[in-house]
Amino acid sequence: MQAKILIARAIFSEVIKRLSDHFELESNQEDVIFTPEELRQRLQGKQGMLCTASAKVNGDLLAHTPELKVVSNMAVGYDNFDLRACTDHKVLACNSPDVLNETTADFAWALLMATARRVTESEHWLRAGHWDRWRYDGFLGADLHGSTLGIIGMGRIGQAIARRSSGFGMQVLYHNRSRLLPEQEAAANHARYVSKAELLGAADHIILVLPYSPNTHHTIGAAELALMKPSAVLINVARGGIVDDIALIAALKSGKIAAAGLDVFENEPKFHPEFLTLPNVVLTPHIASASRNTRLAMANCAADNLIAALCKGRPQNVLNPEVLT
Ligand code: GLV
Repeated sequence: MQAKILIARAIFSEVIKRLSDHFELESNQEDVIFTPEELRQRLQGKQGMLCTASAKVNGDLLAHTPELKVVSNMAVGYDNFDLRACTDHKVLACNSPDVLNETTADFAWALLMATARRVTESEHWLRAGHWDRWRYDGFLGADLHGSTLGIIGMGRIGQAIARRSSGFGMQVLYHNRSRLLPEQEAAANHARYVSKAELLGAADHIILVLPYSPNTHHTIGAAELALMKPSAVLINVARGGIVDDIALIAALKSGKIAAAGLDVFENEPKFHPEFLTLPNVVLTPHIASASRNTRLAMANCAADNLIAALCKGRPQNVLNPEVLT
């Protein structure tokens, strides 16, 4: 008998087709965002779920979904999963890492360049019909070439971001839970490990790429913003909640830092409305991994994990392997 799965969000039709060769499935191509109660109901009688960060998998849900065996995130981040609760309920949790590293690194650079060189701000101004002459001081921004890049969170995406900086002749500082091996540092444009405080004070541009957890909540708050250069540019392609958005808005308004580029927000898709009033912030709707190839690869990776877990044995990307033993 085929296992039953829920595909909790809209997804590529070719991935639905693949999954339908293995499972009896219920999909949500209307892309309804389920309330916790709806999610719980949809999961009745299901052994697996393919989901995104909008599905909160916690003890409350798992206490009411006794048949569930696997939850497979189409995301590298998995802060929507309570891993301990998953393990307690013997539910295997999987994510979709690696396939998005290079695309996300590309986007971190796109956001950094757009922010440092005021691309969206000047485009809005042009579209509004204000451009009547060239000016020597029109939209002066910050150089990337020859500057110091600080990366907080030096996992696979952070290292991919660092590698790209060699073309700009930049110096790379990084801060991470643990130090990279010397050969990894060399490959990451000779990145130098420093304390968080040193990085904040020395970097011209700072990119955040660390996973969200209670330990990384508000890694950047008022105290950290105060350590940064007034000319600094801050980029967040990690998760909302890593930055204290209210403190950031205050810093952007008072000129404590120059500008920010944000792909993620506390409480997204809602975000603090004051961001919309600030000229020195570039705002994008959580699209760092959004190239067609990469999103398809992420969906296929999440599907592979489900197929392996429910049909073959061991998926490649297990977050709580203790469930398998
Ligand atoms: C995107 O934010 C992801 O975690 O993959």
